Amino acid sequence: MARVVVISDPHLSPTHGFFWDNWCRACDVVNRLAPDAVIVSGDLCINGPESDAEVAFAAKALRRLKPQVYAIPGNHDVGDEPPGQEPDQIIDGRRVKRWLSVFGADRFALPAGNWRVLGINAQLLGSGLPQEKEQDDWLDAELAASSSPILLALHKPLFLQSPDEAEITATSINLEPRTRLLRRLRQAPVKVVVSGHLHCQRDVVHEGVRYLWAPSTAFLVPPQEGAEANLGILAIDLGEAGVRVERIAVPGLVSYDLLELKGHGRYAYLRDMPPCPPPA
Ligand SMILES: [Fe+2]
Ligand SMILES: [Fe+2]
Repeated sequence: MARVVVISDPHLSPTHGFFWDNWCRACDVVNRLAPDAVIVSGDLCINGPESDAEVAFAAKALRRLKPQVYAIPGNHDVGDEPPGQEPDQIIDGRRVKRWLSVFGADRFALPAGNWRVLGINAQLLGSGLPQEKEQDDWLDAELAASSSPILLALHKPLFLQSPDEAEITATSINLEPRTRLLRRLRQAPVKVVVSGHLHCQRDVVHEGVRYLWAPSTAFLVPPQEGAEANLGILAIDLGEAGVRVERIAVPGLVSYDLLELKGHGRYAYLRDMPPCPPPA
């Protein structure tokens, strides 16, 4: 059996340190759990698309984790896939390059017991960037090569309620890239898909695949239908007999409410708020 811990959406920043204490507490719990691997499933930053310093700060913050760490980017790290939420925060080559220059990779593959764990850059899906094609080719090769059950990690969920939902939204992967990805996942032994981004927790099975939404360590937003408003981390035990998932509550984690934090409309984005650096 192998244990993988998922930490999601810590939203760290050297200038806007609202969630720094939560991050430190989550790291302490993960270090005590001593899993085989830690996946940080995106949104490590608040304004990574526009800031070298934020991406560098997030990478440095990962050093608090003692187990092997695999980080994949979210929209707050490399920008949204188009059309996105804001025209000036769309993923582009410069933003991908910034992430790669600091983290070295935006995807990973690792063995975990008798399982295979894959992570991809969700923000490339539907981007049309050359890196999307490169990632597709890499994923095809990984999927084709594995006879082991596979857990796939990515920042955004593939869908909210149903794979055929067509609404263009920044909450999940859009229909066209989702359909292409699902077609390939169905041809491989993909058993679990874990994502972040929505800052709530859910665990559902769809067409034999278990879809896990990992909670954030930073703040809550009103949960999507069928999801729970939880903060924390996920421990996923991958064994021959199956998968066991547990949300681990982190003692002392502060349940920040995003709307309250942003002054109920006073600030559109966290990056617009007055600086409050984390303690040195
Ligand atoms: Fe997030
Ligand atoms: Fe996100």
